[in-house]
Amino acid sequence: MQARENWGSRFGFVMAAAGSAVGLGNIWKFPYVTGENGGGAFLLLYLAFILIFGVSLVMAEMAIGRMTQKNPVGAFKALAGGAWPLVGYLGVATGFIILSFYIVIAGWTVAYMVFMLSGELATTDSSQIANTFTTLIGGSFWPVALAVIFMLATCGVVIGGIGKGIERASRILMPALFVMLILLVIRSVTLPGAQEGLAFYLVPDFSKITGSTLTAAIGQAFFSLSLGMGALITYGSYLSRHERLPGSAFMVVGLDTLVAILAGLMILPAVFAYQLDPGAGPGLTFITLPVVFAQMPAGTIFGFVFFALLFVAALTSAVSLLEVVVAWLVDEKGMSRKSAVLTAALVCIALGLPSALSQGAVDSLVFGGQSFLDWAAQLTDILLPLGGFFTALFVGWVMGPRLVDEISNQGEVPFKLAGLWLFVCRFIAPLGIAWVLIAGFL
Ligand code: TRP
Repeated sequence: MQARENWGSRFGFVMAAAGSAVGLGNIWKFPYVTGENGGGAFLLLYLAFILIFGVSLVMAEMAIGRMTQKNPVGAFKALAGGAWPLVGYLGVATGFIILSFYIVIAGWTVAYMVFMLSGELATTDSSQIANTFTTLIGGSFWPVALAVIFMLATCGVVIGGIGKGIERASRILMPALFVMLILLVIRSVTLPGAQEGLAFYLVPDFSKITGSTLTAAIGQAFFSLSLGMGALITYGSYLSRHERLPGSAFMVVGLDTLVAILAGLMILPAVFAYQLDPGAGPGLTFITLPVVFAQMPAGTIFGFVFFALLFVAALTSAVSLLEVVVAWLVDEKGMSRKSAVLTAALVCIALGLPSALSQGAVDSLVFGGQSFLDWAAQLTDILLPLGGFFTALFVGWVMGPRLVDEISNQGEVPFKLAGLWLFVCRFIAPLGIAWVLIAGFL
């Protein structure tokens, strides 16, 4: 058997996993769901879910991947059989669904790069910006074309394989995005009138928590960490045996959470400073940022660089989504890497069409008060925690101490919190996730 490709270095793996985690979820989704769900209280719930379920399950997924060196379906087959591979199939299906709408939003960032350069959005008149945005996403040609362009870019990276493509891109561009984010946070929090936004974001108002807030917060935690569908199993499968898992898991979770917190600090104070509506929904980041750039010295350049980096952040995340599906097709269905990539991409584009056309082009794709894209995103808020629920049960009750051995490299790496970790996987995570999902329905 051909040896499985490995990450080039520890830094490379952490950067690639962080590249998967940090994406549109942090910069596009997090600020607007926080805005829709009342600010500070939502932030606190999100952080709590990351701490309670996130860290433990990230470690669990990485360990399953490294132990089996397989895609999610193959991993569950190798470890247990029975009905457990269904968890892997659930992951692959969820991957298709996420990717189908992810490419649509990522496509918008491509248009924004062009808009920034052309000066189309160089105005402080937010209603004009909103207009440009709605016209863009409501069309029937560009939303589809841009999604296809983004999908092709993702295919290019994934065909290149993990080391050359994914790892190299993540190592340089992720730190650049981080620097850019810090600059914009400074700009945003020093705007006149930013305090109100800071208070909204940082001072929790618990009366705003409802069942749907809970679902949104747990969904966001899983989405942002790339958790609950086997993406981290897949990335872990390219890890060498010597890697120290607990440290890597903490790093990835820490970086992702930091970027989300910063993205909130970048968007929400500016929203209040410019008297925009924090509950505006999926357009929030795309409408708020241009106003900020329009008032910045050299805003055109900053704006272009920012959306270029956001494009790359989205790319490294989309790559991890596509990689799950591709690893499954290659390992389990015996396809070549190239045909697996092309097959998966075609299916995703087909599934993405209704999302792309639901923003104004086709009226019947808006139903029950929201668009097809909103429904797809909401479905993943449930599917990902569900995947996490089954993973926790599997790890806690089927694997148990065997996976502790894997995480600690058979006792070579200190894993002091092994007892707590196992307790979380056995009881806290399954019961907690089930409770949150049920409370969300009531
Ligand atoms: N975490 C990414 C983001 O925040 C999206 C993502 C990539 C993802 N891979 C995933 C979400 C796997 C869930 C599962 O943008």
